[in-house]
Amino acid sequence: MFGDVELKSTLVFFLSLPVHLFVCFQVLLQVEICEIEGNIFRLKIDEASPLRARYKVRDVLIKEPSTQRLFVSQNEAGILVLSSVNEDYKLKVTANPFQIELQSKGETVLSMNSNGLLYFEHLQPPPSDRYKDLGLWQEKFGSFLDIKAHGPSSVGMDFSLHAYDHVYGIPQHAEGLLLKNTSDGDAYRLYNLDIFGHKIHDKIGIYGSVPLLLAHKPNRTTGIFWLNSSETLVDISTKAVKTLQGRHGLSGSAAETAKQRAVPLTDVRWMSESGIIDVFLLMGPTAFDIFKQFAQLTGTQALPPLFSLGYHQCRWNYEDEQDVKAVDAGFDEHDIPYDVIWLDIEHTDGKRYFTWDKKKFQNPKKMQEHLRKKKRKLVVIIDPHIKVDPMYTLYSQAKDKGYFVKDRNGKDFEGICWPGSSCYLDFTNPEVRKWYADQFAFKTYKGSTNILFVWNDMNEPSVFKGAELTMQKDAVHYNNWEHREVHNLYGFYQQMATAEGLIKRSSGKERPFVLTRSFFAGSQKYGAVWTGDNTADWSYLKISIPMLLTISMAGISFCGADVGGFIGDPEPELLVRWYQAGAYQPFFRGHSNMESKRREPWLFGEKNTQIIREAIRARYVLLPYLYTLFYRAHTAAEPVMRASFSYPCSKLKFCDQRIRTILPWLCFSQIPVFQRGGTVIPLKTTAGKSTEWMIDTSYELHVALDTEACAIGELYIDDGHSFQYLHKKQFLYRKFTFHNNILSSSCRDESGQYQTTCVVERVIVLGFGQQPTFVTACSKGNDLTSILIQYF
Ligand code: NOJ
Repeated sequence: MFGDVELKSTLVFFLSLPVHLFVCFQVLLQVEICEIEGNIFRLKIDEASPLRARYKVRDVLIKEPSTQRLFVSQNEAGILVLSSVNEDYKLKVTANPFQIELQSKGETVLSMNSNGLLYFEHLQPPPSDRYKDLGLWQEKFGSFLDIKAHGPSSVGMDFSLHAYDHVYGIPQHAEGLLLKNTSDGDAYRLYNLDIFGHKIHDKIGIYGSVPLLLAHKPNRTTGIFWLNSSETLVDISTKAVKTLQGRHGLSGSAAETAKQRAVPLTDVRWMSESGIIDVFLLMGPTAFDIFKQFAQLTGTQALPPLFSLGYHQCRWNYEDEQDVKAVDAGFDEHDIPYDVIWLDIEHTDGKRYFTWDKKKFQNPKKMQEHLRKKKRKLVVIIDPHIKVDPMYTLYSQAKDKGYFVKDRNGKDFEGICWPGSSCYLDFTNPEVRKWYADQFAFKTYKGSTNILFVWNDMNEPSVFKGAELTMQKDAVHYNNWEHREVHNLYGFYQQMATAEGLIKRSSGKERPFVLTRSFFAGSQKYGAVWTGDNTADWSYLKISIPMLLTISMAGISFCGADVGGFIGDPEPELLVRWYQAGAYQPFFRGHSNMESKRREPWLFGEKNTQIIREAIRARYVLLPYLYTLFYRAHTAAEPVMRASFSYPCSKLKFCDQRIRTILPWLCFSQIPVFQRGGTVIPLKTTAGKSTEWMIDTSYELHVALDTEACAIGELYIDDGHSFQYLHKKQFLYRKFTFHNNILSSSCRDESGQYQTTCVVERVIVLGFGQQPTFVTACSKGNDLTSILIQYF
């Protein structure tokens, strides 16, 4: 088997694999294994000479990863052992049966195909009786017929994660943080679907998919990134296995293997409908290393414009210009900060996106000027389906240029969506994306101004009356790829084109804001996501937290859930609690369905208005910290919202204990927020009407001391909207340290050039053991000044 081995930086060999279809025969597969800088391994399996090229995901990896040379440390009788450059990792490749074991310093971390579930349906010529008995060449789903023009082409592989029994990730499911054993039920499905009123704890995939799974055990986190955009199933089975100590080493002596112990083992089986096997093994070893490794492949979170971290007020629909003005005024009247008002599909002329309903929105520019004066913004919805209407320029242009997805007979695919009969732009085509991006130019998109930003909805894509409410898998895209190959990438590409359009309209100067419902690995580069149509019920508030944590650990930090629940009418207590939770989540938007009653924050009585006001203000006061966290997400791939397992065990225990002692019940108006000991958090002293009103508001630092009476923290500032932080170093990055009773502020990045007149006005130190007799302040070149202190 290893006669064919080619070893440059990538190990390439050919594998003759028995494939079970109707009959068992051999297929020649090309297997590539390489190490990627930064503790990542890649395994690629494709047919050695397929009848036609198989689909390989494009545009998700930010660049072709740079590989490192693996060294052969053993090559004998069907066993090949390869070592990583630093010799920390060894890959043991066995020929018969084909298996790969990945070891770190003698410990087996994971093995591949140890359950023999590797399979690869190789492409075949159509059977001679194709039109009589189509067998695997077509599939029926209700009244839908899926014709597989290129025949069956699924791939799959099993991974055994040694000593792991906690696995996370693979959003999006309405599921708790810890993934469940699927051995006696459905597998987790990754297939982007529009599921109105989706159920909780369902394994069915909703809206977006990131095929990244994280396995965690004390002292090690490992990631499996299965780069495939077709329908994918993930089976998980955790069990305890009796293992012989020492078995996991390459050489275990008889004495070592004498003792037995039970250790957990998690088997994860990935199966995809088509494409190739392209899998990245992220070796951590910490959770934060995994986040970095994933970002190294797929990119980091785009730095959002500051306004988009404020509160967003949405509803299906704010009816007309008067309604928009009244809601906007309502926030001022009730002294509640907010940054953005949203317009849903009804603002358009008959659901023709990029247009306005001329009766309801007679002067959209004037309306935006009104909002601009209030230092606020507008977001409008732009869905991917295009109304079939020869008089609608977007439709006629796209039709003429051949920019729509085709059906299996080569005609434009037509489906039903909000406008009725619709065609779907083929965003997988770079030329379509460029043309689409140009639609956002101010001169083309009439009535738009630079305070208008975009919401991409229904982009799974949603096709009413379609199979599972989405596009037929046999529809055809750019370069003749079937929809089945690219399904999970459709929304990813629309958001990419939209973000590009917003950047372009500002001649490359301004950061875009685009919210998308459908997403894939790497969507973080283009903006924000939300969890779709949740329900106004306590269980959905509860599940929103693990859902957002899961999306965050899959690289997409800018995420949120509809505050209040989209479907139905929340009881006031639920709404209030939802605001209190949402105020601490990365994307913070109140939204409600057409049939739901109006629920602007002041409609639930003075007491509830007051509590909601406090929650939203708490958000605004916290923005310097949140923005700094986003900068960390942008530059260092640290998720803004983090599950506690990402922290080292010792720290965790300490936090848990503290929380348990402080957590008796709190009253309705209080939000149980804890600050971890050892941290300095920057805040604003007070909330303003919107983020822009707060530019000159001074800062406050909250210093929470650890057991050594120390703390550290950071503050990142820039203009909040442009790319000058990148191109012209227009940013300020400070570091705060509390040590030996001295709080000092220093430069965290000397290259930053941004100037601000804002000062730190107040410092609150938590956990300071005894009352200080005096406190002084000193800045460069100035004398010591005594400052006012209060001690509680
Ligand atoms: C479905 C979206 O999930 C929801 O947020 C939106 O209001 C409706 N589409 C109407 O556009």
